[in-house]
Formats: sequence, C-alpha cells, structure tokens
Amino acid sequence: MRLATRTAGPLLCALSVLSVSAPSAPAQQGRPAAPDQQVVLVTGSTSGLGREVALRMGSRGAHVIVHGRDEERGMTVVEEINAGPGSARFYRADFASFDNVRALASAILRDYDRLDVLVNNAGFGSAPDERWVSEDGHEFRFQVNYLAPFLLTNLLKERLIASAPSRIVNVSSLAQAPIDWEDVMIEHDFSGGRAYGQSKLAQVGHTFDLHEELGRSGVIVNALHPATYMPTGMVQRLGVTPRATIDEGSDAVMQLILDDVEGGQFFNQMTPGRAHAQAYDMESRERLRALSRRLTGSR
Ligand SMILES: NC(=O)c1ccc[n+]([C@@H]2O[C@H](COP(=O)([O-])OP(=O)(O)OC[C@H]3O[C@@H](n4cnc5c(N)ncnc54)[C@H](OP(=O)(O)O)[C@@H]3O)[C@@H](O)[C@H]2O)c1
Repeated sequence: MRLATRTAGPLLCALSVLSVSAPSAPAQQGRPAAPDQQVVLVTGSTSGLGREVALRMGSRGAHVIVHGRDEERGMTVVEEINAGPGSARFYRADFASFDNVRALASAILRDYDRLDVLVNNAGFGSAPDERWVSEDGHEFRFQVNYLAPFLLTNLLKERLIASAPSRIVNVSSLAQAPIDWEDVMIEHDFSGGRAYGQSKLAQVGHTFDLHEELGRSGVIVNALHPATYMPTGMVQRLGVTPRATIDEGSDAVMQLILDDVEGGQFFNQMTPGRAHAQAYDMESRERLRALSRRLTGSR
C-alpha cells in the first residue's frame, strides 16, 4: 500500500500483519459448515453493522464466514456464533490489496461448495480527510469500498449461481457523489467525503449491472443505505453524534437477505429509494464497468 500521508507508518504496519497470504491460505479458524447449513459471507463482520448481521445469521442457524482484518475481533464473533445454533469461521483479508481479495476468494471456493448469501459490507468511511493510495496504486476508498467487492463478487459469482436461489446485498449509503471521469482517483480537490461518496455510488451502479447479469440465474442482488449515523467505527472516527442504532441498519440488511424482495433495487433502509442519478446512467455504468474490469483484471 502506498500512502501519501503521515499515517503511512501504522497503516503499513497493520497491512503487513493482517494480510491473507495468497494463494495457499491456511485452514481458517472456527467450525466448518454442515452439509445442510446455509452459508453466508459477511465482509467486514469484525465490527459495527457487519458484526451484528453475522451474529443474527448465526443465531438463525446459518454458517457465517466472518471476514475482516483483525483476527482477535474476528475470533470473538466466531466464538459467539459457535456457542449458539450456527457455526462460523474467520478469514482475514485486507481489501487494500487485490492479492488479499483473490486469496480470500480462493480460500472460500476451496472450503465451501455452496454460497447462499454474500453481504458486501466492509467499508472505510470518510474520516480522516486524507488521501491514501492502496497497495495496487488506487485511491484507497475507491478500492476498499468498491473495486475489492467488485473483484470478490466476480470471483464468487459462479458459486452463487450454482447455489441459487441466492442473494447479494451491497451495503452502500445515501452519501453518494458522482464520479468525475477526468479524475477518478481524486488527485485534485480531494476530500474524504467525496472519495467515500463516489465509492458508494459505484457500488450501486454495480448492483444494477449484477442484477441484469444474474437476475435470471436466481441470484437476487440489491443495494441499500442501512441507516444514518449508526454508532460504528467509521462514525466514531467522523466525530458526529450517532442518530440511528445498529439494530435499525441490521433490520434493513436482514430484510434483503431473508424477505421476498425483487432484485435490482436501491433501498433507503426498509423501503425502495432513489440513488444518485449517475447510478442509473447507462453510459456511466458502461464506463465504470470497463474501468473496474481493467483495474481488477476481471473479465
Ligand atoms: N455507520 C453508518 O451510519 C453507515 C451509514 C451508511 C452506510 N454504512 C455502511 O455500512 C458498512 C459497515 O460500516 P460500519 O458503519 O459498520 O463501520 P465499521 O464499524 O467501521 O465497520 C467496517 C468494517 O469494514 C472492515 N474494513 C474496513 N477497512 C477494511 C479493509 N481495508 N479491508 C477489509 N475490511 C475492512 C472493518 O474491518 P476492521 O475491523 O479490520 O477495521 C469492519 O469490519 C459500510 O459499508 C458503510 O459504508 C454505514
């Protein structure tokens, strides 16, 4: 990861300690899935919203693939799930590295012959207001929040199709900002809010594309804004007073996992909502698709 800011030291250190080593990721810690168990991957389930969704799915008896960068926090979630009717294992991967994402996908394809639900929840918020660059040379939030889940979803797509009826839930936000095609990596007029917002808009455009591609195969794909200012890590870093509970956001995610909903929608919490206009613009989506495939080396 290349960083252009004074925070380079601690982050570089964290990345080297917490990465999955590709491609022969070791057997992960926790309990394997039973043959009749629903298998659910929740990215970023070491804290906040993802953690609560992982616990709720575990309490319903599912096998949860817990993902994050911090093994200790990941194992706490795994142990809590394994103490109840569900089961779980932890997989470590830093989304600022495409090699980590590929290793995570390989480990999951190796360890599971089905995948019923993929919740693309991992994300990094708008604070601090500093421009960072990922290991692969891309604007940090664009990679962590959008390009990494784009790549992960592509790598797991066939398994989701083979497990249909299955679901993809992309945890986006109402805080969307349009992509400036002349400066996608935001080298000028950077702000953390703009970087976060364009990554969240890209996630919604990708959701609509995935629905067109996978809808007929029985994979229901939706995106949502879970809730506004839940008391999670990214909101704490922002320093704003929380306005919603993690339970409210989790209810909205659970609805898209469990309820009878049509795919190809952007939900504002529990109800269908409207995303930024650029997410509906076919020319922008085509540009984004081509760029994302090129940057991630996907077909
Ligand atoms: N909080 C809100 O009010 C709000 C509102 C709208 C949308 N959202 C969305 O909700 C989702 C969950 O966020 P949250 O609010 O629960 O925040 P959070 O508590 O900060 O959790 C973020 C999760 O993403 C993981 N993550 C962050 N950077 C990562 C990286 N480089 N590689 C891999 N995993 C990484 C974190 O793992 P570590 O434990 O390793 O850091 C953590 O598990 C995000 O997509 C966010 O955009 C939140």
